[in-house]
Amino acid sequence: MKVLVVGSGGREHAIVYKLRQSPAVSEILCAPGNGGISDIARCFDVKATDIEGQCRLALEQKVDFVVVAPDDPLALGLVDRLTALGIPAFGPTAAAARIESSKSFAKNLMRKHGIPTADYAVFSDIDAALQYVRAKGAPIVVKCDGLALGKGVVVCHTTEEAEEAVKMMMSDGVFGKSGSTVVIEEYMTGPEVTVLCFTDGKTLVPMPSSQDHKRAYDGDEGPNTGGMGSISPSPFYTPDIEKRCLEEIFIPTIRAMEREGCPFKGVLYFGLMLTPDGPKVVEYNARFGDPEAQAVLVRLESDLFEIMTAVVEGTLDNINVKWNQNASCCVVLASGGYPAGYKTGYRISGLDKSSSIIFHAGTKKTEDGDYVTAGGRVLGVTALGKDLSDAVNAAYEAVRPVGFENMHYRRDIGKIKRTGGNQ
Ligand code: AMP
Ligand code: GLY
Repeated sequence: MKVLVVGSGGREHAIVYKLRQSPAVSEILCAPGNGGISDIARCFDVKATDIEGQCRLALEQKVDFVVVAPDDPLALGLVDRLTALGIPAFGPTAAAARIESSKSFAKNLMRKHGIPTADYAVFSDIDAALQYVRAKGAPIVVKCDGLALGKGVVVCHTTEEAEEAVKMMMSDGVFGKSGSTVVIEEYMTGPEVTVLCFTDGKTLVPMPSSQDHKRAYDGDEGPNTGGMGSISPSPFYTPDIEKRCLEEIFIPTIRAMEREGCPFKGVLYFGLMLTPDGPKVVEYNARFGDPEAQAVLVRLESDLFEIMTAVVEGTLDNINVKWNQNASCCVVLASGGYPAGYKTGYRISGLDKSSSIIFHAGTKKTEDGDYVTAGGRVLGVTALGKDLSDAVNAAYEAVRPVGFENMHYRRDIGKIKRTGGNQ
């Protein structure tokens, strides 16, 4: 089987790494890929959002199966297009991907189907939005309706901050069309947990829990990023909570999507907050999280290609998905300055001396065979251990030989306070 993976980050590297272990996969293509991916897959310079280009590539190269990993091409309907061309594609349709690409769609779905989430209101009129935040007061959370590279959420601790956030999104147009509608939400507290699930629209297979570290600096300080590191499992996700999530959130969401006429196939990401009133949904994503995928996929023992095929064919109930009992940790090495401005093109040293799996994100391979930095998040150093502290130590040990100019990373990935999250 010839498989094309769409995307270019650490998540895509982890997916390619696991697909290569499948006996059924004979060749992997990736577009656009990155320096590390190019060592194990044939990379093509086609943007993930270039829907026509990706379809052309899949046809020209006669691929048998496509995995669409990032949010944008899913929202733009790449899976719908490939399916219409007769090419099996892993990921939700554009209609199902609205669960991520439109926060108002997701919130209205949850309200209609009784899925626990923060109370909220949706506004397209700036004056009404401002009036609402003044009436509700702080703390309060202001979110762009559309995709905003993980940066369209402002947790506001004062009413003035909330007014600023509404103005920034709705009148300054910082987020373009994504910000013309905003969702304003009740502020929740509690530890945050991610649970990724494989689903074919009917059957749901939860993966082991994980936790991202979204802020740029230690101690959960600084701006929000795409994710600075991840662990699996989350120490907060007890069997009791797992049971509640399954019954109150996961299964109701799959059924709700089916009832709304847009069954979800692919990986559904549940961003949860374990509030004093029980687990609630913070957000859904229509795909693997990055860097959660890196921490979770290294724990997968079953054949990823077999699972993905079953998802597309609607036969997930026939598959027994196995995980190793280890814990894992992924430490992201980023360019200094990220998530704001940063420079690229720096040579990366020590990759061959590291003791663990290094997933590349923003890297390029030069003609001399060196790797240079090419993005904000550069590498995801990922290790397994017999428990969380073992995995964390192994990951930081593996970071030691690796370096590039202005490298920045968090020193506290997995060193979680027992309280965690917004308290
Ligand atoms: P999102 O992109 O929706 O996941 O939001 C980014 C981050 O903002 C989350 O991981 C939370 O830490 C925080 N956040 C989002 N919504 C809320 C909320 N209603 N209450 C408290 N914190 C929130
Ligand atoms: N790590 C969060 C995300 O992928 O959106």
